[in-house]
Amino acid sequence: QSELKDKMIEAHELAAKLYHYILMNTAHGQEALSYLRDRGINDKLIEQFQIGYAPTQWDTLVQLLEKRGFSLEAMEQAGLLSAKHQQPGYVDRFRDRIMFPIWDRNGKVIGFGGRILGEGQPKYLNSPETLLFNKSKLIYNQHLARPHMKRTGQLVLFEGYADVIQAWDAEVFNGIATMGTALTSEHVKLMKRMVERVIICYDGDNAGRAAASKAIPLLEQEGLDVSVAMLPNNMDPDDYIRANGAERFRHAILSAAVSPVKFQLLSLRGDHILLEDDGKRRFLKEALKLIAPIESPTEREMHLAELSKQIGVTIESLKQECFDLRQKLL
Ligand code: UTP
Ligand code: MN
Ligand code: MN
Ligand code: MN
Ligand code: MN
Repeated sequence: QSELKDKMIEAHELAAKLYHYILMNTAHGQEALSYLRDRGINDKLIEQFQIGYAPTQWDTLVQLLEKRGFSLEAMEQAGLLSAKHQQPGYVDRFRDRIMFPIWDRNGKVIGFGGRILGEGQPKYLNSPETLLFNKSKLIYNQHLARPHMKRTGQLVLFEGYADVIQAWDAEVFNGIATMGTALTSEHVKLMKRMVERVIICYDGDNAGRAAASKAIPLLEQEGLDVSVAMLPNNMDPDDYIRANGAERFRHAILSAAVSPVKFQLLSLRGDHILLEDDGKRRFLKEALKLIAPIESPTEREMHLAELSKQIGVTIESLKQECFDLRQKLL
């Protein structure tokens, strides 16, 4: 088994070199290279993250692996090849995609995320679950980010590869992501071994906010200190950095990350229309449920003051309602 694993890693390292070479040095890679440059992924980043391109041909990798004496059957198990339909033989799993190598904690390539050029489905084709590649335990960019996470005691949790890469260019070196999968308690345990603080920096859309809501309790359960960076609607960190620059990303977004309760209150506010009393009542009810359990009286009061401004009632009446609810909860 460990021999098979070694072979699988060797093949991934080889495939990553091949894809990177094709991107940088061949005509087949030209379109992908322009695509990356148009997206603000410069050559320095392409080198740092060993980005590549898997060409359209069916058997580019098959040919190379065969020539180097790899068992194609094992390479299918490794997730690099697919068995042909209704006939013997194998084809490349990844074709006509930008290839993001995924490393284990030691910096060995063990999988890929393959992005389609432009629109289409699936947007990212990832390696399947294999002996090497277990999405619920893997953290993208762990090997590069680790010294920075340890030095700062903090990590920034992104949704996507593109966000991690663009953030690196913005000198945010402690950025990591999970891979097209929700955060698991296994991810969190790994994080806990490296940092004390986590800034969640998910996409500024409903999916991103929902994912953040789910991530918060998981991280807090392990005793991590959590804050949430909020992006403008329908922007992700990659979009934001390209539109507004590295400085503003670091100062107006990351440094302005808010507490989980504040994040929940802001999301709640976005979900409610406060023009009529019914909307206000519903919003108030939900908001008080978030505020009442907070231990610190001054923190409760700050949230209540904000709420009082938002719905135009006195802070005294809010305090009374909050007190009543707290009695019920405790
Ligand atoms: P997003 O849809 O937010 O993609 O998915 P992105 O990172 O912003 O990608 P670009 O900027 O359009 O290139 C976030 C992450 O979810 C996973 C990937 O890990 C992606 O980075 N994902 C998304 C998949 O695994 N498959 C998909 O089809 C889409
Ligand atoms: Mn190179
Ligand atoms: Mn998204
Ligand atoms: Mn995104
Ligand atoms: Mn994006």
